[in-house]
Amino acid sequence: MRRRTAVLAAGALAGALTLTGCSGSASGPDRAELSVSSPYMPQPVSADMAAGFLTITNKGGAGDRLTSVSSDVAGQVTMHSTEGGAMAEKSSFAVPAHGRLVFESGGNHLMFEKLKHAPKQGQTVTVRLTFARSGRLTVEMPVQSATYHPSTGH
Ligand code: CU
Repeated sequence: MRRRTAVLAAGALAGALTLTGCSGSASGPDRAELSVSSPYMPQPVSADMAAGFLTITNKGGAGDRLTSVSSDVAGQVTMHSTEGGAMAEKSSFAVPAHGRLVFESGGNHLMFEKLKHAPKQGQTVTVRLTFARSGRLTVEMPVQSATYHPSTGH
């Protein structure tokens, strides 16, 4: 908090400094640098609902927040956490600076609801992730077997 206040004060005093800050390099300390890895959807057993998992890594010095998820195959995609064995819908998830946000079986997960068709193993589902700072990221999520687990690869 103290550091941010100091930066704002410097910007107000020197316009050039503010400009540099706004157009700064992608690896600047005040930016989130997001990438997505290990996306997958287990082939759904239900005709109208599917789960999805992925990892979002932030190499930047600023945190970000996943605020919404959508997909062409679903009328709605919701974000859930699992706490003490009970799942709860969340309106957003933090992606910490130099950290990760993990959606994995048994933990946080995406739920694809109101499926327009049931995705089959071998297909790919397009998923759009919207972040508070970084905007939108599009992910091609492969559909795996219903019992797939990334640690075993099958
Ligand atoms: Cu859920």
